Amino acid sequence: MLFLCSSIRVSMMLLGLLLLAISSLMAASAGNLNQDFAITWGDGRGKMLNNGQLLMLSLDKTSGSGFQSKNQYLFGRFDMQIKLVPGNSAGTVTTFYLSSQGDNHDEIDFEFLGNLSGDPYTLHTNVFSQGKGNREQQFHLWFDPTKNFHTYSILWNSQRIIFLVDNIPIREFQNRESDGIPYPHTQPMKIYSSLWDAEDWATRGGLVKTNWTQAPFNTYYRNFNGKACVVSSNGVSSCDSKTTTSAASDNTWQSQQLDSKGQRYLRWVQKNYMIYNYCTDYKRFSNGRPRECRLYKFH
Ligand SMILES: *[C@@H]1O[C@H](CO)[C@@H](O)[C@H](O)[C@H]1NC(C)=O
Ligand SMILES: *[C@@H]1O[C@H](CO)[C@@H](O)[C@H](O)[C@H]1NC(C)=O
Repeated sequence: MLFLCSSIRVSMMLLGLLLLAISSLMAASAGNLNQDFAITWGDGRGKMLNNGQLLMLSLDKTSGSGFQSKNQYLFGRFDMQIKLVPGNSAGTVTTFYLSSQGDNHDEIDFEFLGNLSGDPYTLHTNVFSQGKGNREQQFHLWFDPTKNFHTYSILWNSQRIIFLVDNIPIREFQNRESDGIPYPHTQPMKIYSSLWDAEDWATRGGLVKTNWTQAPFNTYYRNFNGKACVVSSNGVSSCDSKTTTSAASDNTWQSQQLDSKGQRYLRWVQKNYMIYNYCTDYKRFSNGRPRECRLYKFH
């Protein structure tokens, strides 16, 4: 028995070393968004500025615009600094999300729903696994997201997804597949972002329309930081071990979880800034709420 345990431990160690050895491909690109992203639509409305230090998406009455990552990832931590459309942004939606391709897709979403000048943006989040979403949580922010850049992060590892704003966790979705709750962990995803018009539903449920006299609307991005496992076209995954800020190995994201301080922050945000939680929407799920809501108190 003792022997068995230690030989398992030794093979785990060897596996770990092997994973480290094949590591390091992901461009942990200090600032240059050209390395990681390509503008994919919008007919020139999306632009790389200052040699890739800054990216601008633009929306006018004819079209919005968007970009996506060049790589696809199976797990990672992705931080992006975003400055949202100022003034009257009602009807506009800025997205920053991960998504797999094809049917029964997985997706992890940030969507920023604009508002009239002075009214708060709504930060909408969702998690899809195997094509099924319906797990929305919405928040107001504790700052004006149009005045300065703020960091929006998705941590996605095999055990949990954590959404963070300026490093403050606002939502956690745990892997509870052993309880029959689907969790996205098999399909590689790319990062996507877009700015588009959703006046039919975005602001106060579609009551407030986009005011095109304010167009073009612009959203800005900078300082992307990704630590992730890149999946190449032949399906081989290689996990980065360097960060932008230091040459030291940093794979902590792979097992990262909320410590007690993180949990306190999460509860603070959910108590004071959460404006919608699918788990407490009894009316919508009158035939029974999703399983994770029935089995667990916090999400
Ligand atoms: C816009 O402002 C209203 C009024 O404060 C608020 O209820 C709503 O959540 C805000 N966000 C959106 C996207 O409608
Ligand atoms: C749109 O914005 C313009 C300029 O600020 C303003 O004069 C006009 O009243 C707005 N239109 C609506 C429908 O609010």
